[in-house]
Amino acid sequence: MCGIFAYLNFLTPKKRSEILELLVTGLKRLEYRGYDSAGVAIDGANDKEIALIKKTGKVALLEEAIKEISEALYLNELTETHCGIAHTRWATHGIPSEVNSHPHRSDDHNSFVVVHNGILTNYKEVKVFLEHKGYKFESETDTEIIAKLIYHFYKQHPNFSFRELVENVVQQLEGAFALCFKSKFFPGECVGTRRGSPLLVGIKTKTRLATDHIPILYGKDESPLAHKDAEKDPDHRPHGRVEIPSIPRSGSTEFEPLEDKQVEYFFASDASAIIEHTNRVIYFEDDDIAAVRNGILSIHRVRRGMDDPNHREITTLKMELQQIMKGNYDYYMQKEIFEQPESVVNTMRGRVNFETKTVVLGGIKEHIPEIKRCRRLMLIGCGTSYHSAIATRQLLEELTELPVMVELASDFLDRTTPVFRDDVCFFISQSGETADTLMALRYCKQRGALIVGITNTVGSSICRESHCGVHINAGPEIGVASTKAYTSQFISLVMFALVMSEDRLSLRKRREEIIDGLKNLQEQIRKVLSLDGKVKSLAENLFNKKSLLIMGRGFNYATCLEGALKVKELTYMHSEGIMAGELKHGPLALIDNNMPVIMIITRDPVYVKCINALQQVKSREGDPILICEEGDSETIAFASQYLEVPRTVDCLQGILTVIPMQLLSFHIAVRRGCNVDCPRNLAKSVTVE
Ligand code: F6R
Repeated sequence: MCGIFAYLNFLTPKKRSEILELLVTGLKRLEYRGYDSAGVAIDGANDKEIALIKKTGKVALLEEAIKEISEALYLNELTETHCGIAHTRWATHGIPSEVNSHPHRSDDHNSFVVVHNGILTNYKEVKVFLEHKGYKFESETDTEIIAKLIYHFYKQHPNFSFRELVENVVQQLEGAFALCFKSKFFPGECVGTRRGSPLLVGIKTKTRLATDHIPILYGKDESPLAHKDAEKDPDHRPHGRVEIPSIPRSGSTEFEPLEDKQVEYFFASDASAIIEHTNRVIYFEDDDIAAVRNGILSIHRVRRGMDDPNHREITTLKMELQQIMKGNYDYYMQKEIFEQPESVVNTMRGRVNFETKTVVLGGIKEHIPEIKRCRRLMLIGCGTSYHSAIATRQLLEELTELPVMVELASDFLDRTTPVFRDDVCFFISQSGETADTLMALRYCKQRGALIVGITNTVGSSICRESHCGVHINAGPEIGVASTKAYTSQFISLVMFALVMSEDRLSLRKRREEIIDGLKNLQEQIRKVLSLDGKVKSLAENLFNKKSLLIMGRGFNYATCLEGALKVKELTYMHSEGIMAGELKHGPLALIDNNMPVIMIITRDPVYVKCINALQQVKSREGDPILICEEGDSETIAFASQYLEVPRTVDCLQGILTVIPMQLLSFHIAVRRGCNVDCPRNLAKSVTVE
């Protein structure tokens, strides 16, 4: 959705220019999360004022704006302690404009500035309260209330610490947020917090960290101070809730990284922004308040819940910088499409044994007996992740013999769908942060269902909140349009179906042919990718069309939906994935000699029905492009244009048929001059409902 990046430097002298460069690079890594506008806040020349620089458009424009005012920023000045916060925005409240860009500020003097990822649902009420108090708003955003509110609390309690002020603020907020604050009253300090949106901190020290965890400091449940304030000034609370500034328990320790305290901290929405600096990170949980002061990081929570831990782990990231760079490719999406021969193998690595024809999924192994006893399987996700559920539903039904429901997370919640204790609910999400999917997860968890996460992002919210799960291990996916994550989600669900059927003798042959199919995938994907040139020339004929219909059925239906989604989001052309069986119930009316159609027809159990659909299209003067199996001359004879993909077992064919669609949407987008990696109006990780 939006990307947050904050940097704190302690006693490692850096030029102001280096600090700005660091912030801007951090934003560039996060740009895929939103690219409507960007902004930074750093300490100004005299270290008392905060300089705010914001720009509509991509981070590169912000970079230029910084260059233009470089003199005023004293770029060559060395600073030993410095805190800067930065943001790249995907607009939700208010159009993309400079004034709506983050950081938002409390007042003309930039006393408090804040960056926010998420959506506040109660901002209108808080805004009315603040307007009554005389605060004037300059933007149309929900975020601005946060900057004003913290200033309001500061004026009431000038002796509160920065962290206490933030605690007061977040107790008034409803909705989803990750926040980082900076203030001219607390130079060199930064406070970050989250609820529903991701936030982590990277820690970089000169020598190895002395610890692998940081204690959590819990506040007392009731603060006499807060009650006293409430009695004195009922207006203290924007809408009458009880404020509880947390008070650390006496004697608790904070994180002191090293004796000489040479440390740098990087707050970020996700790990890709910090991996070039450090691989040591802490993923924050909802309602953690992380404060950095004098080089020391402390994590606070207002109150302690029953199962709350004593500390947060410092984890070591496995990701490497080159994984999030474009390498020899022009676009991230292109690189990610071409990574699929490797990413599918990584998904299966250590899980599928091709010799013994067995599959083990370590992350859910212990729960398999329970899953086998369940009432039904529910697969829940959004967009491409949802399509991976459609792609594998038929196989799951076949190999588990359980009812399998496939649900769009948003619709599932809208319907308040009945969920039972003996349901097993899968939450499929590349980012592991999609708000709709996360909300659906919490809904099912509350009802006692077993929660299985299928994610690509270690440490993500869905990952952490699941009872068990499968990491798809596709590697970082930066292009906004999902490609390699889809094929890896697909394979993860196939592996799950195989695990569920391991003791079924009657299914042995079927299981073995699927495992053999998995073994050959890498080579077959390479072959499909070699069609790139041919796909590019097809794109040449299609790029100026208004619409593109993609038809298929059975195991290939998901490819139609996913292919159409890729075309829509990347090329802005209208595109529809049509179940071929539905053709005569309406969509056939769209067909004439002008309408571009792609049909996916492979030699599976619905082949004959697909050929019928093809005849219907042809008899209405349609001339579909076919995606079919290599050497299938009988089918090819129907078409003037076609793409042949290798033959595999029916339930895996969707992996090979989707790749030409990924390539086609990519080439059409390039030909139309669209921004392939950052399609308009979209963001990689949708952390708002
Ligand atoms: C399309 C695309 C989106 C995502 C959807 C869910 O190319 O990427 O449709 O699949 O927003 O995102 P995740 O998988 O992160 O939950």
